Amino acid sequence: MKNLVKITAMFMFFNLALLISAAGTNNENERKPYIVYMGELPERSGRKTMEDDHHDILSDAIGDERIARESKIYSYHRSFNGFAARLLPHEATYLSKKEGVVSVFPNTIQKLQTTRSWDFLGLSDEIGKTKRNLKVESNLIIGVLDTGIYVESPSFNDIGFGPPPPKWKGKCARAANFTGCNNKVIGAQYFNLAGSPIDLLTPVDVEGHGTHTASTAAGNSVRGANLYGLAKGTARGAVPSARVAAYKVCWSMGCQDMDMLAAFDAAIADGVDVISVSIGGPSRIYFEDSMAIGAFHAMKKGIMTVCAAGNYGPDTATVQNVAPWMFTAGATSMDRQFETDVTLGNGMRAKGISINTFSSKKHMFSLTSGTLAANSSSGGASYRNASACEEESLSKKQVKGKIVYCLGSNGQDSTISENRGAGVIMSGDDNYSDEVAFSFLIPATVVNQKDGKKIEKYINSTRVAKGTIHKSRTTNIANAPFIASFSSRGPQSISMNILKPDIAAPGLSILAAYSPLVTLTGDSTDNRFTLYNIISGTSMSTPHVAGAIAYVKSFHPAWSPSAIKSALMTTATPMKVKPMEAELATGAGQINPTKALDPGLIYEMNPGSYIRFLCKEGYNNTMIRIITGGKHLHDCSTLRARGFDGLNYPSMHIQLSQNSTKFSASFFRSVTNVGSGKSEYEAKVMPPPGVSVNVEPKKLVFERPHQKRAFKVVVKGKFGEDENQVLSGSLEWRDSSHRVRSPILICKSLYQP
Ligand SMILES: *[C@@H]1O[C@H](CO)[C@@H](O)[C@H](O)[C@H]1NC(C)=O
Ligand SMILES: *[C@@H]1O[C@H](CO)[C@@H](O)[C@H](O)[C@H]1NC(C)=O
Ligand SMILES: *[C@@H]1O[C@H](CO)[C@@H](O)[C@H](O)[C@H]1NC(C)=O
Ligand SMILES: *[C@@H]1O[C@H](CO)[C@@H](O)[C@H](O)[C@H]1NC(C)=O
Ligand SMILES: *[C@@H]1O[C@H](CO)[C@@H](O)[C@H](O)[C@H]1NC(C)=O
Ligand SMILES: *[C@@H]1O[C@H](CO)[C@@H](O)[C@H](O)[C@H]1NC(C)=O
Ligand SMILES: *[C@@H]1O[C@H](CO)[C@@H](O)[C@H](O)[C@H]1NC(C)=O
Repeated sequence: MKNLVKITAMFMFFNLALLISAAGTNNENERKPYIVYMGELPERSGRKTMEDDHHDILSDAIGDERIARESKIYSYHRSFNGFAARLLPHEATYLSKKEGVVSVFPNTIQKLQTTRSWDFLGLSDEIGKTKRNLKVESNLIIGVLDTGIYVESPSFNDIGFGPPPPKWKGKCARAANFTGCNNKVIGAQYFNLAGSPIDLLTPVDVEGHGTHTASTAAGNSVRGANLYGLAKGTARGAVPSARVAAYKVCWSMGCQDMDMLAAFDAAIADGVDVISVSIGGPSRIYFEDSMAIGAFHAMKKGIMTVCAAGNYGPDTATVQNVAPWMFTAGATSMDRQFETDVTLGNGMRAKGISINTFSSKKHMFSLTSGTLAANSSSGGASYRNASACEEESLSKKQVKGKIVYCLGSNGQDSTISENRGAGVIMSGDDNYSDEVAFSFLIPATVVNQKDGKKIEKYINSTRVAKGTIHKSRTTNIANAPFIASFSSRGPQSISMNILKPDIAAPGLSILAAYSPLVTLTGDSTDNRFTLYNIISGTSMSTPHVAGAIAYVKSFHPAWSPSAIKSALMTTATPMKVKPMEAELATGAGQINPTKALDPGLIYEMNPGSYIRFLCKEGYNNTMIRIITGGKHLHDCSTLRARGFDGLNYPSMHIQLSQNSTKFSASFFRSVTNVGSGKSEYEAKVMPPPGVSVNVEPKKLVFERPHQKRAFKVVVKGKFGEDENQVLSGSLEWRDSSHRVRSPILICKSLYQP
C-alpha cells in the first residue's frame, strides 16, 4: 500500500509541476512570488506605517514605483513584519542584503499530510471518560490552518455554547455560499493571495481535510457517527467544549507559503491558544520556512504550533517541521483495522484490507485477472502492464461486470471502474500492505501476495471463476499501538541534535467529521457523500496533539507551551519499535493526555532559551535582533547556550557524523517542580547498550512547588563495527508517584557533511 501513498504524492507533484510551469519558472524576466521576512514587528508600528515602509523598500529594489505597487501582494503586519511580492531574481537578491531584512525566499507550495483514507478513535474516548474543566475549556480557541471548514457539521453545532471568549479578535469571512460562523466555529477566514482562478474564494471546506482535522481537535461529542455503518461510535474531539477558528490556506493546487504566513499573522493576533497545521514540505532553514517563522512568532506569544511529521516513512531522515519551538507529531495505529474479505467460487475465503462501504449481498460475480483481461489489440498502449491493470491495458469487454484481480496496489479501482468492472482485488506489494485501509470507488480490497497467488491460481484453473468482495468489518489488532509505516522518521537535518518527531499520536484510520461537499474518495465519479469519513496520515495525528495541548491547558491555564509540551512528552508511553528506528519513529512515544495533567516535573523553555539556542546554531547578532525585535539588545557573545544541544529539551539526541565512532556529550538540563510541594526524585537511567550515561546529581530535592533544579547528563560511548546505527535508552526522574521520562537517542547521521 506504500505504492498508493506514493501515487498520491506523485499526483500532487504533477499538480505542482503544472502550477510552476504555468507560473513560467523558466523565464528569467517573469516575476515570481517571494516572501520578504523582516522579523519582529517594529515598535509603535501601525498598519499604514508598515505598508508604506514595505512599499519604499520594494520601490528601491525595483526602481519603479508603479511596478512596485503592482508587484506587492501582501503586507504582514499584525504579528510579525514582512511582505509578499512578485520579484525578479536579482531584485530578490538585492532585497536579501538590505538592512532589516532577515530572509527572502520563493513562495513554495506545501502539501496536506493525509494519505486519503483511514480511521481511528481512542484518544477521544479516553479523555471522555475522565474529568474535564469545562469552564476553562470553553474559553480555549484552537486555530486550524487547513482546507477550511464545513460549519454545518453536527460536530460544530453550537447548542449550549455561549458567545466567543472576550479575548477573541478574529473574523468570520463573508463569502458566496458560506452561511457564516457560530459560537462553536468562532472564526473562519481564507487566504488565497495569488487569487486562484479555479477555486471559489470561501472558507467553506470543499476538500474534507480541514473539517476532519478541526473536529479531531475540538469537535462536539456526536453519538452514532459512522461511515456507511462502519466504525460506528461516538466521534469526539479532545476538547469538545473548546472553540475552533479555521484559516483556509490549502486550495486545489496545495498550500502556499505566503498564504500560510498570512494565516499565522492573523491567528496569533486573533487570540488563538493552539495552532494545528497538518501541512508539510521539505525541511528548510528556519527563517526561510513559512511554518517555522509563523510558529516562532506564535511561540513568542505563548502559542504552541503543532505540525505533522510528514508521510514519507518508513525511510529514515524524512521528518519535516523540525524547529524546536514546534511540536512535531508522528502517526500511530489504533487497535482497530478494517478487514474486507473475499470469497471465491471454490469456497476459499481470503482476508484483505480496505474500507469497503459497498454491500455485495453475497452475490457472486464473474472473476478474472488483469493478465487474462488484457486488450491484445491496444496497439500503441501495448507497453502497458495488463497484469497490474494499468490504464488502457484492459479490454472493456473482458472487464465489464466482473471482479478483476490485479498485481500491485496502485489504486487500480479507477481503471476498473472506467471499464465498468464490478470490483477489484489488489495484491499488496510489500510488508506494509496490511496497514493502511483506503476507500475506493468500487468494491475493492487489498490481499497479501500469498493469498493473491492462490486467487490467481483459482482464476487460471477454471473458465467460470466467481467471487465476491464483502463489506468491510472492523477487527482488533493485537500489537497496537504501532507506528504507521508512512509516518516520517528522523533524524533531521536542520538542528542535528534535536530529536524529531517529538511524539506520536493516532493517525491511522481516523473517523471524524467530513465535508459533504466532496465525495467520499474525492473522485468526481464517486456518488457517495458523507458527514463522517475515515482517513489516515500524520495530518490526523497533528490535531490529536493540538487537542491534547488544549486539554492540559484547560487544567493548567498558566503553563507555557513548552511546559505543556514537556508534560506530554515525559508522560508519553514508550512504544515497541524496530531497533533500527526506535525513537526516530516515535519520539517520546504515544501521547497520553490524562497522564500529562500531572507530570511531576517539567522542562521549561522560554523565548530567551530559543534565542540562546539560535546563537549556538550560528545566527549572528544582526539576525537575532531583527527576529526578536529591537526592544532588547541581544548579543550572542554573552548568550552562550550551555551543553551539547543548547536547549532544555525534554529529549536528548546525538547525531554523529558518518565516520565517527566515539561520542561524548554533556546535556545541561533543569526541571521545575509542578507536583505538590515537597518531593524527592531519583534518577533512573536505562542506558543504551554499551553506552555510559552519568547523571549529576542523582537526586533532586524540592521543598515547594515551582522550584527549579539543575542537573547534567554525560553520555559517552562508541559504535562498534557492525552495530546498529541507532542506540536507544532513557532517563527517568522518579518519585513515589511520577515517572518523568526522557528518551536518549544516538544515531549515525544520514546526511553528508
Ligand atoms: C453556490 O452553490 C450552488 C449550489 O451548489 C451553486 O450552484 C452556485 O454556483 C454557488 N455559488 C457560487 C457563487 O459559486
Ligand atoms: C483495445 O484498444 C484499442 C486501442 O486503444 C481500442 O480501440 C479498443 O476499443 C480496445 N478494446 C477493448 C475491447 O477495450
Ligand atoms: C507488472 O506489474 C507487476 C506488479 O507491479 C509486476 O510484478 C510485473 O513485473 C509487471 N510486469 C511487467 C511486464 O512489467
Ligand atoms: C519484508 O520483510 C522481510 C522480513 O522482515 C524482509 O526479508 C523483506 O526484504 C521485506 N520485503 C520488502 C519488500 O520490504
Ligand atoms: C495465471 O495465468 C497467467 C497467464 O497464463 C500467468 O501469467 C500467471 O503466472 C498464472 N498465475 C498463476 C498463479 O498460476
Ligand atoms: C549576519 O548573517 C547574515 C546572514 O547570514 C549576513 O548576511 C550578515 O552579513 C551577517 N552579519 C554580520 C555582522 O556578520
Ligand atoms: C568517511 O568515510 C568514507 C569512506 O570510508 C570516505 O570516503 C569519506 O571521505 C569520509 N568522510 C570524512 C568526513 O572523513
